[in-house]
Amino acid sequence: MPVVFAPEHHLWLLSGPSTSYALRLDGGGVRHVHWGAPLTLEAATALSEPVPDPAASSFEQGTGEAELRVEGGAQFGPSSLLVRFADGTSAIEWVYEGHKIDGEHLSVRLADRHYPLAVTLHYRLAGDVLERWTDVTNRGSEPITLLRCDSAAWTLPARAEHRLSHLVGAWVSESRLRRAPLPVAETVLTSRRGVTSHHASPWLALDDGTAGEDHGEVFSAALAWSGSWRITLHRDPGGRTGFTGGFGHEGLTWTLGAGETLSTPVFAGTWSSEGFGGVSRVWHSYVRLRVLTHPDEDRPVLYNSWEATGFDVEEAGQMALAARAADLGVELFVMDDGWFGARTGEHAGLGDWTPNPKRFPDGLRPLAAEVRRLGMRFGLWIEPESVNADSDLYREHPDWVVHQPNRRRTELRSQMVLDLARPEVAAWTHAWLDKLVGDLDLDYLKWDFNRALTEAAPDSVFLDHTRAVYGIMDRLRADHPGLRIEACAGGGGRADLGILRRTDQIWPSDNTDPVDRLGIQHGFSQLFPAQVMSAWVTDNPNVTTARSTPLRFRFHMAMAGALGLGGDLTTWTPDELTEAAALVAAYKDVRPVIQHGDAHRLTGAGTLTGVHYVWADEHVVLAWCPSRAYGHDPGPLRLTAVKPGVLYRDLDSGTTYPGEVLLGRGLPLTLPSGDHASALVRLSPVEQS
Ligand code: DGJ
Repeated sequence: MPVVFAPEHHLWLLSGPSTSYALRLDGGGVRHVHWGAPLTLEAATALSEPVPDPAASSFEQGTGEAELRVEGGAQFGPSSLLVRFADGTSAIEWVYEGHKIDGEHLSVRLADRHYPLAVTLHYRLAGDVLERWTDVTNRGSEPITLLRCDSAAWTLPARAEHRLSHLVGAWVSESRLRRAPLPVAETVLTSRRGVTSHHASPWLALDDGTAGEDHGEVFSAALAWSGSWRITLHRDPGGRTGFTGGFGHEGLTWTLGAGETLSTPVFAGTWSSEGFGGVSRVWHSYVRLRVLTHPDEDRPVLYNSWEATGFDVEEAGQMALAARAADLGVELFVMDDGWFGARTGEHAGLGDWTPNPKRFPDGLRPLAAEVRRLGMRFGLWIEPESVNADSDLYREHPDWVVHQPNRRRTELRSQMVLDLARPEVAAWTHAWLDKLVGDLDLDYLKWDFNRALTEAAPDSVFLDHTRAVYGIMDRLRADHPGLRIEACAGGGGRADLGILRRTDQIWPSDNTDPVDRLGIQHGFSQLFPAQVMSAWVTDNPNVTTARSTPLRFRFHMAMAGALGLGGDLTTWTPDELTEAAALVAAYKDVRPVIQHGDAHRLTGAGTLTGVHYVWADEHVVLAWCPSRAYGHDPGPLRLTAVKPGVLYRDLDSGTTYPGEVLLGRGLPLTLPSGDHASALVRLSPVEQS
């Protein structure tokens, strides 16, 4: 039974295949009992008995183990739910109203003892991931003001130290992993931008400072939300540690009208005893199980025009690129920005979603037909949430943008944000998208969003914008089942489980330099599996870094995700085209293993790193050595996902290796000399008679 209730102890125990989570009623509220290793009901019951701490003074009370932290009583940690009733009261006193167990879903109902406020705390198991969210209902006739409404609060077992892993970044440098001791303090991870952001990610991991890639206890959580968000961690000098998180940043207020319910996004959490690699694999399984709509589909090898042509797209040029792409084995051709309205640069045209007649005199049908004649699917770049001041749309509807009266309308990248919280704006947006997808029978949309929200009013716009985007995507996908969507926001500005629920892959960064991508993709892989990570091979020198690298190295880096090509193929030499075609074919050969397999991140000597993918009996290792100090060879790369007692054959060289050797000494790599060396190795266990 995944969810068990012990009525005599008012205790609930939720168990996945390798984890357990327990909570209990305490007074009127719900208190955390356990998060981590599998427990029996007996053990959970024993754990749920409070351990008196003789040393604890009254000053230490109120650090909180509530499953949803509220004001009132001795509660001094960060609150998950902050309310103001009409008379100014902010304290909450819960009364338990009941619970429901529906398979893997537990919901616990609480109501305030006096005021007409009720909450339902939701817990739903998905393998070893526990999804948590909260519904808050105003049962009265007066509005209630919410100052904060988090999805859930999480409590960790006390440890001498806790170490926080999280992702930081900026445009062209997203998803960089930071790992540092959690201070005895409150630590806030947040985005105030109305979008997930390049700068921080709503994902974190906590360990006691000793976990490694393949060992140790790791707790991890991720919020499924694509607007502003905040996660507040707290650790006190006694080692008590927890965090609360949800949508919205600080300082926002929402009015919960009479009879209304506010539902928070899912804040999912998991635990692994197999280190950071183990916890990532749990996340990857969860993404495939619960988040993706088409988890079993191979992501196609795509071509994207952005780095090749920038805004200068036109029919003949795109057809020439498409012809080259098809010759290389590309399966999906995506035309990026510049195909519509007066969009010849970033200053004009956003909002006018009709093909530019000078560039596409007969519309987009001829290009779509040519791409399909070449045997590829056809996709387009769009940015439906934004508008340039220099556009027919803005001239016609200046009131349609997010703005405040008597205030300047901030432009970022020369654009403003459409107020999708207004039903007529959302309806107009859905209508042109639906027509575009329907008319061209589009296979793919790269849905971009290149700015943050500013001057949003009322505060609810911060929530409603994201909800409206979700709503439009959901409707489009329901009406066009063949449509696949790539989430992009100026690179990786909107990479989270919420957007992934209604898309198929994510563009992690506008930085396509394979050396920089090593770090970006490493961070991205903490939560997301390879199949959702778009990665392109682009030109030398790289447009962002001016670095030149071998074609093979660029390919091997991009092969770690959903491979794409993004260079100006019309300038590639015959030798480069031949090599590229062979590498695309090699990728297709290993694609199921990379896209659907378990990923094990590896570290070798010097700058050598790799990822080992395992799918049933098929093993693929991608290894990268970006620089060789003193010309030293990095030596073999130790694998972690092979078995002792099993012999493995390198499918290309025919060499065999005992599992013990691969685990102990490592896999010898044949790397080209110099910097930017890489290898792709395919291994398979040898049938032994
Ligand atoms: C930002 C995206 O991240 C790029 O890939 C490209 O689509 C540009 N926008 C187009 O304006």
